[in-house]
Amino acid sequence: MEHLATAQARLRSARRVAVLTGAGISKPSGIPTFRDAAGLWKDFDPEEYATPQAYARNPQKVWEWYAWRYRKVQEAQPNPAHELLVRLEGQVGEGFLLVTQNVDGLHRRAGSRRLVELHGNIAQGRCERCEYRFALPAPEDFVPPPLCPACGFRARPDVVWFGEILPEGAFERAWQAFALAELALVIGTSAEVEPAASLGRLAAESGAYLIEINPEPTLLSRWADCVLRMGAVEGMQALLEG
Ligand code: APR
Repeated sequence: MEHLATAQARLRSARRVAVLTGAGISKPSGIPTFRDAAGLWKDFDPEEYATPQAYARNPQKVWEWYAWRYRKVQEAQPNPAHELLVRLEGQVGEGFLLVTQNVDGLHRRAGSRRLVELHGNIAQGRCERCEYRFALPAPEDFVPPPLCPACGFRARPDVVWFGEILPEGAFERAWQAFALAELALVIGTSAEVEPAASLGRLAAESGAYLIEINPEPTLLSRWADCVLRMGAVEGMQALLEG
Protein backbone atom coordinates (compact mmCIF):
# COMPACT_ATOMS: atom_id res chain seq x y z
CA MET A 1 0.00 0.00 0.00
CA GLU A 2 1.48 3.36 -1.03
CA HIS A 3 0.15 5.01 2.14
CA LEU A 4 1.81 2.42 4.38
CA ALA A 5 5.25 3.14 2.89
CA THR A 6 4.73 6.85 3.44
CA ALA A 7 3.48 6.26 6.99
CA GLN A 8 6.50 4.07 7.81
CA ALA A 9 8.89 6.73 6.46
CA ARG A 10 7.12 9.53 8.35
CA LEU A 11 7.25 7.52 11.56
CA ARG A 12 10.98 6.92 11.18
CA SER A 13 11.74 10.63 10.77
CA ALA A 14 9.18 12.26 13.09
CA ARG A 15 10.63 13.84 16.23
CA ARG A 16 7.28 14.88 17.75
CA VAL A 17 4.83 11.95 17.87
CA ALA A 18 1.47 11.95 19.68
CA VAL A 19 -0.45 8.70 20.13
CA LEU A 20 -4.05 8.23 21.30
CA THR A 21 -5.34 4.78 22.24
CA GLY A 22 -8.77 3.43 23.09
CA ALA A 23 -10.27 0.15 24.22
CA GLY A 24 -9.50 -1.55 20.89
CA ILE A 25 -5.77 -1.81 21.69
CA SER A 26 -6.58 -3.92 24.76
CA LYS A 27 -9.05 -6.21 23.01
CA PRO A 28 -6.26 -8.59 21.88
CA SER A 29 -5.42 -8.86 25.61
CA GLY A 30 -8.92 -10.17 26.26
CA ILE A 31 -10.40 -6.95 27.67
CA PRO A 32 -13.79 -6.06 26.16
CA THR A 33 -14.32 -2.75 24.37
CA PHE A 34 -17.38 -0.60 25.04
CA ARG A 35 -19.20 -0.07 21.74
CA ASP A 36 -18.24 -3.14 19.72
CA ALA A 37 -20.74 -5.93 19.04
CA ALA A 38 -19.68 -7.64 22.30
CA GLY A 39 -18.78 -4.38 24.04
CA LEU A 40 -19.43 -3.68 27.72
CA TRP A 41 -22.16 -1.13 27.03
CA LYS A 42 -24.19 -3.84 25.30
CA ASP A 43 -24.58 -5.70 28.62
CA PHE A 44 -24.20 -2.86 31.10
CA ASP A 45 -26.00 0.47 30.94
CA PRO A 46 -23.34 3.19 31.41
CA GLU A 47 -26.01 5.27 33.17
CA GLU A 48 -26.15 2.54 35.84
CA TYR A 49 -22.39 2.01 36.26
CA ALA A 50 -20.30 4.89 34.92
CA THR A 51 -21.82 8.15 36.15
CA PRO A 52 -21.55 10.03 39.48
CA GLN A 53 -25.35 9.72 39.81
CA ALA A 54 -25.17 5.92 39.49
CA TYR A 55 -22.51 5.82 42.19
CA ALA A 56 -24.48 8.10 44.50
CA ARG A 57 -27.58 5.92 44.00
CA ASN A 58 -25.85 2.59 44.62
CA PRO A 59 -22.13 2.73 45.43
CA GLN A 60 -21.92 -0.98 46.24
CA LYS A 61 -23.37 -1.98 42.83
CA VAL A 62 -20.94 0.30 41.01
CA TRP A 63 -18.03 -0.90 43.11
CA GLU A 64 -18.86 -4.58 42.46
CA TRP A 65 -18.84 -3.91 38.71
CA TYR A 66 -15.48 -2.12 38.94
CA ALA A 67 -14.07 -4.88 41.17
CA TRP A 68 -15.08 -7.41 38.49
CA ARG A 69 -13.40 -5.32 35.73
CA TYR A 70 -10.37 -4.80 37.99
CA ARG A 71 -9.94 -8.57 38.43
CA LYS A 72 -10.25 -9.14 34.63
CA VAL A 73 -7.75 -6.40 33.90
CA GLN A 74 -5.19 -7.71 36.39
CA GLU A 75 -5.43 -11.19 34.77
CA ALA A 76 -4.79 -9.68 31.32
CA GLN A 77 -1.33 -9.15 29.85
CA PRO A 78 -0.05 -6.35 27.61
CA ASN A 79 -0.07 -7.47 23.95
CA PRO A 80 2.46 -6.80 21.10
CA ALA A 81 0.68 -3.52 20.24
CA HIS A 82 1.38 -2.18 23.76
CA GLU A 83 4.97 -3.44 23.49
CA LEU A 84 5.56 -1.87 20.06
CA LEU A 85 4.40 1.48 21.45
CA VAL A 86 7.09 1.17 24.15
CA ARG A 87 9.64 0.57 21.36
CA LEU A 88 8.35 3.62 19.47
CA GLU A 89 8.66 5.74 22.63
CA GLY A 90 12.30 4.66 22.90
CA GLN A 91 12.96 5.55 19.25
CA VAL A 92 11.34 8.99 19.39
CA GLY A 93 12.45 9.98 22.90
CA GLU A 94 11.29 13.18 24.59
CA GLY A 95 9.08 14.29 21.69
CA PHE A 96 6.81 11.27 22.26
CA LEU A 97 3.57 11.25 24.24
CA LEU A 98 1.08 8.40 24.60
CA VAL A 99 -2.42 9.50 25.63
CA THR A 100 -4.79 6.71 26.57
CA GLN A 101 -8.51 6.63 27.32
CA ASN A 102 -8.04 3.17 28.81
CA VAL A 103 -8.13 2.64 32.56
CA ASP A 104 -6.67 -0.88 32.38
CA GLY A 105 -3.07 0.12 33.12
CA LEU A 106 -1.68 -2.14 30.35
CA HIS A 107 0.43 0.63 28.78
CA ARG A 108 2.13 1.25 32.12
CA ARG A 109 2.65 -2.46 32.71
CA ALA A 110 4.13 -2.79 29.17
CA GLY A 111 6.71 -0.11 30.08
CA SER A 112 5.27 3.12 28.61
CA ARG A 113 6.46 6.12 30.65
CA ARG A 114 5.66 9.21 28.56
CA LEU A 115 2.01 8.45 29.25
CA VAL A 116 -1.19 10.34 30.12
CA GLU A 117 -4.13 8.30 31.45
CA LEU A 118 -6.99 10.65 30.50
CA HIS A 119 -9.72 8.59 32.18
CA GLY A 120 -7.82 7.45 35.29
CA ASN A 121 -6.81 3.97 36.38
CA ILE A 122 -9.07 1.13 37.52
CA ALA A 123 -6.39 -0.22 39.91
CA GLN A 124 -6.62 2.93 42.05
CA GLY A 125 -9.11 4.32 44.55
CA ARG A 126 -9.72 7.98 45.37
CA CYS A 127 -11.08 9.12 48.72
CA GLU A 128 -14.51 10.75 48.45
CA ARG A 129 -13.59 13.16 51.23
CA CYS A 130 -9.86 14.01 51.08
CA GLU A 131 -9.22 12.95 47.42
CA TYR A 132 -6.23 10.85 48.51
CA ARG A 133 -5.32 8.41 45.66
CA PHE A 134 -4.04 4.94 46.48
CA ALA A 135 -3.46 1.54 44.87
CA LEU A 136 -6.28 -0.93 45.50
CA PRO A 137 -5.41 -4.21 47.25
CA ALA A 138 -4.63 -7.14 44.93
CA PRO A 139 -7.88 -8.42 43.34
CA GLU A 140 -7.84 -11.61 45.44
CA ASP A 141 -7.71 -9.49 48.63
CA PHE A 142 -10.03 -6.73 47.48
CA VAL A 143 -13.45 -6.37 49.13
CA PRO A 144 -15.19 -3.18 47.93
CA PRO A 145 -15.71 -0.47 48.98
CA PRO A 146 -12.12 0.42 49.95
CA LEU A 147 -11.54 2.85 52.82
CA CYS A 148 -9.10 5.71 52.44
CA PRO A 149 -5.75 4.80 54.09
CA ALA A 150 -5.30 8.50 54.97
CA CYS A 151 -8.64 9.43 56.57
CA GLY A 152 -10.69 6.23 56.73
CA PHE A 153 -13.58 7.56 54.62
CA ARG A 154 -15.03 5.52 51.73
CA ALA A 155 -13.13 5.75 48.43
CA ARG A 156 -14.47 5.61 44.85
CA PRO A 157 -12.88 4.17 41.70
CA ASP A 158 -10.19 6.58 40.47
CA VAL A 159 -11.68 6.76 36.96
CA VAL A 160 -13.46 9.54 35.03
CA TRP A 161 -17.21 8.96 34.71
CA PHE A 162 -19.47 10.49 32.08
CA GLY A 163 -20.03 14.15 32.86
CA GLU A 164 -16.93 14.44 35.03
CA ILE A 165 -13.84 16.55 34.38
CA LEU A 166 -10.54 14.92 33.40
CA PRO A 167 -7.59 14.70 35.83
CA GLU A 168 -5.96 18.10 36.44
CA GLY A 169 -3.68 19.05 33.57
CA ALA A 170 -4.10 15.75 31.72
CA PHE A 171 -6.08 17.11 28.77
CA GLU A 172 -3.96 20.24 28.52
CA ARG A 173 -0.84 18.06 28.19
CA ALA A 174 -2.57 15.86 25.60
CA TRP A 175 -3.91 18.83 23.65
CA GLN A 176 -0.47 20.45 23.42
CA ALA A 177 1.15 17.20 22.23
CA PHE A 178 -1.39 16.77 19.42
CA ALA A 179 -1.34 20.44 18.43
CA LEU A 180 2.48 20.36 18.05
CA ALA A 181 2.87 16.83 16.66
CA GLU A 182 4.52 16.13 13.30
CA LEU A 183 2.82 12.74 13.36
CA ALA A 184 -0.29 11.58 15.22
CA LEU A 185 -1.25 7.91 15.62
CA VAL A 186 -4.77 6.99 16.77
CA ILE A 187 -5.36 3.34 17.65
CA GLY A 188 -8.49 1.44 18.67
CA THR A 189 -10.92 4.21 19.51
CA SER A 190 -14.38 4.87 18.09
CA ALA A 191 -13.59 8.60 18.50
CA GLU A 192 -17.05 9.16 19.96
CA VAL A 193 -16.23 10.44 23.44
CA GLU A 194 -15.02 14.01 23.88
CA PRO A 195 -12.65 15.58 24.59
CA ALA A 196 -10.31 12.74 23.57
CA ALA A 197 -12.16 12.27 20.28
CA SER A 198 -11.06 15.69 19.02
CA LEU A 199 -7.31 15.15 19.46
CA GLY A 200 -6.74 13.36 16.15
CA ARG A 201 -8.54 16.04 14.15
CA LEU A 202 -6.66 18.77 16.07
CA ALA A 203 -3.37 17.21 14.95
CA ALA A 204 -4.53 16.86 11.32
CA GLU A 205 -5.73 20.46 11.24
CA SER A 206 -2.42 21.58 12.77
CA GLY A 207 -0.49 19.96 9.90
CA ALA A 208 0.43 16.60 11.40
CA TYR A 209 0.50 13.40 9.37
CA LEU A 210 -2.37 11.37 10.86
CA ILE A 211 -2.45 7.55 10.97
CA GLU A 212 -5.48 5.59 12.19
CA ILE A 213 -5.38 1.90 13.11
CA ASN A 214 -8.86 0.42 13.48
CA PRO A 215 -10.63 -2.54 11.82
CA GLU A 216 -13.76 -0.35 11.48
CA PRO A 217 -14.34 3.13 10.03
CA THR A 218 -14.69 5.84 12.69
CA LEU A 219 -15.59 9.52 12.87
CA LEU A 220 -11.85 10.21 12.58
CA SER A 221 -11.14 8.15 9.44
CA ARG A 222 -11.88 10.99 6.99
CA TRP A 223 -9.10 13.11 8.60
CA ALA A 224 -6.44 10.39 8.40
CA ASP A 225 -3.62 10.49 5.83
CA CYS A 226 -3.17 6.76 6.27
CA VAL A 227 -5.85 4.34 7.51
CA LEU A 228 -4.70 0.84 8.49
CA ARG A 229 -8.04 -0.98 8.46
CA MET A 230 -6.83 -3.75 10.77
CA GLY A 231 -6.29 -4.64 14.43
CA ALA A 232 -3.83 -2.84 16.69
CA VAL A 233 -1.29 -5.68 16.72
CA GLU A 234 -1.28 -6.09 12.91
CA GLY A 235 -1.25 -2.31 12.42
CA MET A 236 1.67 -1.67 14.76
CA GLN A 237 3.62 -4.56 13.23
CA ALA A 238 2.97 -3.15 9.72
CA LEU A 239 4.18 0.29 10.81
CA LEU A 240 7.25 -0.74 12.81
CA GLU A 241 8.23 -4.14 11.45
CA GLY A 242 6.84 -4.06 7.90
N1 APR B 1 -7.52 -3.37 17.35
C1 APR B 1 -7.80 -2.05 17.22
N2 APR B 1 -9.04 -1.53 17.33
C2 APR B 1 -10.03 -2.40 17.58
C3 APR B 1 -9.83 -3.79 17.73
C4 APR B 1 -8.50 -4.27 17.60
N3 APR B 1 -8.19 -5.58 17.72
N4 APR B 1 -11.03 -4.37 17.98
C5 APR B 1 -11.95 -3.37 17.98
N5 APR B 1 -11.36 -2.19 17.74
C6 APR B 1 -11.95 -0.84 17.67
C7 APR B 1 -13.42 -0.79 17.35
O1 APR B 1 -13.63 -0.81 15.96
C8 APR B 1 -13.82 0.56 17.97
O2 APR B 1 -13.67 1.61 17.03
O3 APR B 1 -11.82 -0.28 18.95
C9 APR B 1 -12.79 0.77 19.09
C10 APR B 1 -13.39 0.68 20.47
O4 APR B 1 -14.29 1.74 20.62
P1 APR B 1 -15.04 1.94 22.02
O5 APR B 1 -15.54 0.62 22.48
O6 APR B 1 -15.99 3.09 21.85
O7 APR B 1 -13.88 2.34 23.04
P2 APR B 1 -13.22 3.77 23.21
O8 APR B 1 -13.18 4.52 21.91
O9 APR B 1 -11.93 3.58 23.92
O10 APR B 1 -14.25 4.51 24.21
C11 APR B 1 -13.87 5.78 24.68
O11 APR B 1 -15.80 5.78 26.15
O12 APR B 1 -17.13 4.50 27.50
C12 APR B 1 -16.15 5.48 27.50
O13 APR B 1 -14.57 5.92 29.16
C13 APR B 1 -14.91 4.98 28.20
O14 APR B 1 -12.60 5.35 27.60
C14 APR B 1 -13.87 4.94 27.09
C15 APR B 1 -14.39 5.95 26.09
